[in-house]
Amino acid sequence: AQAEIGLIGLGVMGSNLALNIAEKGNKIAVFNRTVERTHEFVEEAGALKDNIVPCATIEEFVAAIRPPRPIIIMIKAGEPVDQQMELLRPHLEKNDIMIDAGNANFRDTMRRFDALKDSGLTFIGMGVSGGEEGARHGPSIMVGGTEDSWKRVEKVLTSIAAKYNGEPCVAWLGENGAGHFVKTIHNGIEYADMQMIAEIYGILRDGLKMSATEIGEVFATWNKGRLNSYLIEITAKVLEAADPIGGKPIVDMILDKAGQKGTGKWSVIEAQNMGIPATAIEAAVAARSLSSLKGEREAAEKILGLPAVAPLSVSDRAAFIKDLESALLAAKIGAYAQGFAVMAAASKEFNWNLPMPTIAKIWRAGCIIRSQFLDEITSAFTKAPDAANLIVTPAFADMVKETDGSLRRVVSAAVLAGLPVPALASALGYFDSYRRGRGTANIIQAQRDFFGAHGFDRIDGADSHHGPWGSGLGAGA
Ligand code: 6PG
Repeated sequence: AQAEIGLIGLGVMGSNLALNIAEKGNKIAVFNRTVERTHEFVEEAGALKDNIVPCATIEEFVAAIRPPRPIIIMIKAGEPVDQQMELLRPHLEKNDIMIDAGNANFRDTMRRFDALKDSGLTFIGMGVSGGEEGARHGPSIMVGGTEDSWKRVEKVLTSIAAKYNGEPCVAWLGENGAGHFVKTIHNGIEYADMQMIAEIYGILRDGLKMSATEIGEVFATWNKGRLNSYLIEITAKVLEAADPIGGKPIVDMILDKAGQKGTGKWSVIEAQNMGIPATAIEAAVAARSLSSLKGEREAAEKILGLPAVAPLSVSDRAAFIKDLESALLAAKIGAYAQGFAVMAAASKEFNWNLPMPTIAKIWRAGCIIRSQFLDEITSAFTKAPDAANLIVTPAFADMVKETDGSLRRVVSAAVLAGLPVPALASALGYFDSYRRGRGTANIIQAQRDFFGAHGFDRIDGADSHHGPWGSGLGAGA
């Protein structure tokens, strides 16, 4: 029998995805730029090799797959994907489907999708989350493309996706760039989650002077409570790990410069383009950028010193640690609320009809931000699919009211002790601004009118659109 699906690119992610596909009983054809890697891969596959068709040439590869042929391209995002598609294209037939499973910018996905529009071929942009382990044993999969192309791959993808209480973490989210957009926002939220955890770690390390091992115990305890999630779990694990050279906690030996490959930044750019505040994600991206200015930071510390403030003083350590837990939960709610608000706006902007409860559902397992918390989001959006914002759904409004006091105390204490908490503080600022019916933009409007005659609306609806700014000033002066 012919292969159900094909895959190009036997790097770590591609190999693991191919093994997962083979293991779930699907025959898969594989091709790699260098044929040595293909041979090596078949060797690694062990008993799974019965379901693998190794191919040395593109012709052989295409012929091995049952039409219409779904072909997963799992290579470095960007230019290489366009090149691979160009190489593949002449060998394909009507209705064949090229699937980009990398971390593509959804704007590239839209462009690739459009470029194939009248060619008879089609394209799927597929977000895959869960890292190497996820790819091998069950990732969360976000699919964007035509409904017909989705139907062709639904069975295979459902078989390999992570399961949450038996429900597969894969869904068709809409046309063209929908899948990659949702994956991008997943990563934006991932950045915020990680940054907020890092800020709490900073309070414990630099404020309470706790050791890595002690902090690891705190996170391990939290992982049994409401913060239960993959990122909290691995944070506990990394804090408890020892350096093979010297035996100190490994985290104390790791340089404090964070890398980033672009998805967080794209989330922020798209949020800004649509005028949707995603301040916690912005703070997280900026914090990574600031972290990479290691030399400048060290030089600045020599010139400015650390803030001249009283060190964090905590009378009841256990109570403060409880407060940190609730503060982290509150801030996390802010980040997710922002991420979902960006997706809601994008859904309108790009005509996708993104299903919010489904997105929350397929993030409950398999992906990097997987957690119990996402089940609560699923239920909130299922009950109120049209809510303007996650934080005004009844369940989350209650959670915000219950936890925002902790966030306020923690942010205040950190600020007074000179400990940076930009993402936690931005979540708090978001709540405080979002829940205040009468804000302060009346001043901005007055200023704009004063210097530029931009006009303003009045609260009483009366139609005076310019201010009484005095002779020779304002209204165009
Ligand atoms: C995932 C991850 C994965 C990867 C990203 C983030 O969902 O499995 O998000 O896609 O870790 O590339 O990477 P950076 O932190 O390097 O931007």
